[in-house]
Amino acid sequence: PLKVTKICCIGAGYVGGPTCAVIALKCPHIQVTIVDLNKARIDAWNSPDFALPIYEPGLVEVVRQARGRNLFFSTDVDKGIEEADLIFVSVNTPTKKSGVGAGFAADLNYVELATRRIATVATSSKIVVEKSTVPCRTAESMRTILEANSRPNCRFDILSNPEFLAEGTAIADLFSPDRVLIGSLQTQEGIDACESLKQVYANWVPPHSHCRPLVFRAVQLAANAMLAQRISSVNALSALCEATGANIDEVAHAIGYDSRIGPKFLKASVGFGGSCFQKDILNLVYLSESCHLPEVAAYWRQVVEMNEYQKRRFSKRVVDTLFNTITGKRIAVLGFAFKADTGDTRESAAITLIRDFQSEKALVNIYDPQVSHEQIWTDLQEASPLAPLNTIKKQVTICKSAIEACKDAEAVVIATEWKEFKDIDWEAVYASMNKPAFVFDGRLLIDADKLRKIGFTVTTIGRPSSTLV
Ligand code: NAI
Repeated sequence: PLKVTKICCIGAGYVGGPTCAVIALKCPHIQVTIVDLNKARIDAWNSPDFALPIYEPGLVEVVRQARGRNLFFSTDVDKGIEEADLIFVSVNTPTKKSGVGAGFAADLNYVELATRRIATVATSSKIVVEKSTVPCRTAESMRTILEANSRPNCRFDILSNPEFLAEGTAIADLFSPDRVLIGSLQTQEGIDACESLKQVYANWVPPHSHCRPLVFRAVQLAANAMLAQRISSVNALSALCEATGANIDEVAHAIGYDSRIGPKFLKASVGFGGSCFQKDILNLVYLSESCHLPEVAAYWRQVVEMNEYQKRRFSKRVVDTLFNTITGKRIAVLGFAFKADTGDTRESAAITLIRDFQSEKALVNIYDPQVSHEQIWTDLQEASPLAPLNTIKKQVTICKSAIEACKDAEAVVIATEWKEFKDIDWEAVYASMNKPAFVFDGRLLIDADKLRKIGFTVTTIGRPSSTLV
């Protein structure tokens, strides 16, 4: 098998960036170049003060050690392709917005364009690894495109190597992955290519990775669907807890003791977000429908619907609790990222909540420790495409701290489980708010009893509302 010396990664996003930065760190003998068409993103990766385009705990340290040594970021996609002997394709695969399968199927346009670029530019043989989450048999399409457009004496071996990292813990996940799956054709060339990639991972991952036929791609959709299903199940139970007087935290804790269920991923919340869960489930729904399995499709679709319901239910609870109207009232939303320890806002529940508050004509103050102001405006504009940005800006203020966001507010809504929200000076917050002062904990983050002692009226997801005091 070929010994890999130069790697190129197409796509410098949440997956390509951290994954290949860690490969560079762990394999100092391999030159790793991450390329992207987005110049602003590449400039940020190269910024002298390490103001990287994405936030992940530990990422800056990795980039600091490897950048300029054997890790490079560039917009010269063609040069990256030409030099490399192994190429990761880590471009985005969003849900299709129009055409067949709109709203469900993955948009493979970016994968195809990147593949065609490889075919056009390559003058020597390459191992091409698809890392993006793509439907089964995409590797076959990639192979057809590459073979139909390649030069003589160029051969392409296609591997499938889905990424299982979770945002917020990407670096820890990459340092010690639960599993590394590599799929290849079961020909001698395919098995050799797989071995070459295995040797890259062998620099730090114990050799428990598997070479499998390419069809196993569905594993990733299935894994994300199962994870999201757990959250929707627990969230469905949280609604029952609120109605019956039970406490979802205690219920989840108790059922987690059952070793068949296990304690992880059982936390009720205002709803899951992120770029993968919804997209991958919708993909699975589409796949089920294409296979004429409407009951299976309906089952998985319900996981997404429960998530939408959870968000709607939460914003309705805010309105109900604030005496059935929030018109003209100031609401502080703490957290905008879809979860803690990331600056990623894709499908964040906060966006839906804020849109709901806006349509009730509330005034909204937002604070998030990592998300840029520009990103917040972009997301709010996308959520209300008909409202001019100026109108949105009349209703929404972005603040520099949690304390600033809470000043003169009627209610505080915790939308992301940032640890720093636990340690806010809640006495000072209380003093600066209008009374009665309300807190809505959408993430089971804060100590409700402690806040009640200060004077707050606290509403927690998965617990019945306490009577007003
Ligand atoms: P992203 O949107 O952050 O990054 C993709 C990058 O690819 C963008 O910067 C874009 O400019 C670039 N790009 C697109 N076409 C290109 C081309 N032809 N040439 C050069 N650059 C190009 O996406 P993200 O989150 O990194 O996801 C990538 C893939 O990994 C997706 O398929 C996603 O489903 C999958 N995935 C994502 C995970 C996550 O936690 N975000 C986890 C596991 C898989």
